[in-house]
Amino acid sequence: MVDVSIRVAQSQDLEAIRGIYNQGILDRIATLDAEPKSPDDMMIWWDAHRGRYGVLVAEIGHQVVGWASLNPYSSRQAYRGVAELSIYVHREYRGQHIGQQLLTQLEILARQHLFYKIVLFTFPHNMAGQRLYTKMGYREVGIFQRQGYLDGAFVDIMAMEKFIQTL
Ligand SMILES: CC(C)(COP(=O)(O)OP(=O)(O)OC[C@H]1O[C@@H](n2cnc3c(N)ncnc32)[C@H](O)[C@@H]1OP(=O)(O)O)[C@@H](O)C(=O)NCCC(=O)NCCS
Repeated sequence: MVDVSIRVAQSQDLEAIRGIYNQGILDRIATLDAEPKSPDDMMIWWDAHRGRYGVLVAEIGHQVVGWASLNPYSSRQAYRGVAELSIYVHREYRGQHIGQQLLTQLEILARQHLFYKIVLFTFPHNMAGQRLYTKMGYREVGIFQRQGYLDGAFVDIMAMEKFIQTL
């Protein structure tokens, strides 16, 4: 396994996070976002990731090679124990178990912040994502048909979930 360290992200990591995020957007494999994120977009994103909604980065040496975040799922009080996740690994570092290490640490962080469940939404054709999630114990909830519209076509979205602590 590659020697990677995982730590809580700082605002100084935002440009590296943005670069990796934009690779995922351009690859059309990770998100319904069509346009690359600008520095201003990232400031808004960072503001939404305070408190319980943590961000982790994976580093090799001093290079950030991946990141993962806990995102708000819903502002309704009834869903306060549910977080949504994002996870992105730099193109050149995919397939080296960095995603798996990030996700393992993200679940620990989520437990510390008293989330009992993580949900995620992924393209059904994102095989790397699905392999990672299935291996980590996420269950397919189902597929929303024609849930999003990207590049002039409707796309299906798969929902997955994992209970990360017993209730
Ligand atoms: C999805 C992603 C985060 C996975 O991270 P990663 O570091 O590449 O994945 P890992 O190396 O930890 O692999 C985890 C499992 O998935 C499998 N996997 C990884 N890449 C794969 C690929 N291209 N095709 C099929 N399976 C793959 C691995 O084989 C591994 O299982 P194994 O240990 O049984 O071999 C990463 O590929 C990525 O950033 N992709 C672009 C952004 C994205 O799609 N994010 C998710 C949005 S829902």
